[in-house]
Amino acid sequence: MSSDSGVQVLVRVRPPSKGEEEGDPIVEKISSNSISILDHTFTFDSVADTTSTQDDIFRLVGLPLVENCLAGFNSSIFAYGQTGSGKTYTMWGPPSALSEDSSSSEWGLTPRVFERLFSRINEEQAKHSDKQLNYQCHCSFLEIYNEQITDLLDPTQKNLQIREDVKAGIYVDCLTEEYVYTMKDVIRLVIKVH
Ligand SMILES: Nc1ncnc2c1ncn2[C@@H]1O[C@H](COP(=O)(O)OP(=O)(O)OP(=O)(O)O)[C@@H](O)[C@H]1O
Ligand SMILES: [Mg+2]
Repeated sequence: MSSDSGVQVLVRVRPPSKGEEEGDPIVEKISSNSISILDHTFTFDSVADTTSTQDDIFRLVGLPLVENCLAGFNSSIFAYGQTGSGKTYTMWGPPSALSEDSSSSEWGLTPRVFERLFSRINEEQAKHSDKQLNYQCHCSFLEIYNEQITDLLDPTQKNLQIREDVKAGIYVDCLTEEYVYTMKDVIRLVIKVH
């Protein structure tokens, strides 16, 4: 998540869904970076409890990552957890929030990161208008399923290959890349691949 340490892990505990057992919660946040599960304590870089908002998660994870990118570092966010634990909710937000043009308090990390990225790019370009700064953003979406890679922007492209290049590093050969200039472009693509 940031340039000063390679990988950081944040745990988000989601609120109980309808129909889940009432009673004492099994997972409890006990400090800013630890949780207790059935009397065992586990420590991470940070812990967000059931009251955390999408904006809280963006401030903890997304904001530092955008600044990291603009400082020239590669960055990535990835969600891990069992089914129903809140990966899609955290990364994207509920589908209703994404169909909207304007920002929503329910937006997850990805739309928030793009919104911030575009506003920071505009800021940087205005600040250094004498230098003709040129930023290019493009998006790709892929699915890995049964060890096969499918291009979600062109699902006729199945079984794409992973290759390595001295300059570009590891990349997926022939994966579609679409240029994006505004949040609308991003949302249009996201709706297309959903
Ligand atoms: N922090 C949260 N606050 C409120 N609702 C949440 C939260 N996290 C998840 N949910 C809700 O819980 C349900 C499951 O979440 P989600 O679909 O994000 O899980 P998932 O990890 O993506 O599961 P899968 O692996 O099956 O795709 C959804 O209805 C989602 O809206
Ligand atoms: Mg999901």
